[in-house]
Amino acid sequence: MIEVKGLCKSFENKQILKNISAVFEAGKTNMIIGPSGSGKTVLMKSIIGLHPIDTGRIEYSGRNLPDMNTSRIRRLRREVGMLFQGSALFDSMTVLENVLFPLEMFSRKVQEENIERARFCLHRVNLSEQVYHLYPAEISGGMQKRTAIARAIALQPKYLFCDEPNSGLDPKTALIIDQLIHEITEEFNITTIVNSHDMNSIMEIGDNIIFINHGEKAWQGSKNEIFHSTNKDLNDFVFASNLFKKIKNSKQ
Ligand SMILES: Nc1ncnc2c1ncn2[C@@H]1O[C@H](COP(=O)(O)OP(=O)(O)OP(=O)(O)O)[C@@H](O)[C@H]1O
Ligand SMILES: [Mg+2]
Repeated sequence: MIEVKGLCKSFENKQILKNISAVFEAGKTNMIIGPSGSGKTVLMKSIIGLHPIDTGRIEYSGRNLPDMNTSRIRRLRREVGMLFQGSALFDSMTVLENVLFPLEMFSRKVQEENIERARFCLHRVNLSEQVYHLYPAEISGGMQKRTAIARAIALQPKYLFCDEPNSGLDPKTALIIDQLIHEITEEFNITTIVNSHDMNSIMEIGDNIIFINHGEKAWQGSKNEIFHSTNKDLNDFVFASNLFKKIKNSKQ
């Protein structure tokens, strides 16, 4: 579980995040949603510790990140998997080498065990052996995302961060990637945080949804509650698409 309390973050004199408090539960796909520029990426990077914050607490199972020294932060980083926009695979490494990379960097196991683990992760994301020796440029966008997920879970993270994990994918592949993240989260009891502004993703995998607007937490609830909210900003965001307007009307 990750608990954020009173988090404030500014760049120069501009306050981006305003007093955000939220609980992100283990085994659940926790989603940060909101319009473009609302502060989702800054919030995610602040929680990971990539942006120093002004004030607030970021508790990883009770351990407050801003209080940690460098060696404790390094230890915590090993418990964290990340999946950033655009997959960020290493172009000069094969699929298998990309997944092996964090294992060779951080695990103290012998090479055969690392290879076994990398193969397990690739198998788990349903990539066939035929692609293990291909380079990222030689596989589809969906396969690149699967590789990036396999790499993110290689070190058995307790916490997984995904920033817009399905951007650039067609709707069907996007859904498959969302479901994969959701399944892995439940299966390995990971505290997963996913940033998204894609309503399809939100309705598919959002166990716990936090809506950010202009840097403030404006709403929190489940995907079943989202249609019944009276929050105007949330409704403007959710029902921007005609499809979701129709779904709402059909539920009334
Ligand atoms: N390194 C930075 N320095 C200064 N301002 C920044 C920095 N990073 C982000 N910002 C500002 O913080 C605000 C929130 O940006 P952020 O990237 O978190 O939005 P977002 O909700 O992730 O948007 P999107 O949906 O488009 O990814 C924006 O106004 C942005 O310009
Ligand atoms: Mg963003």
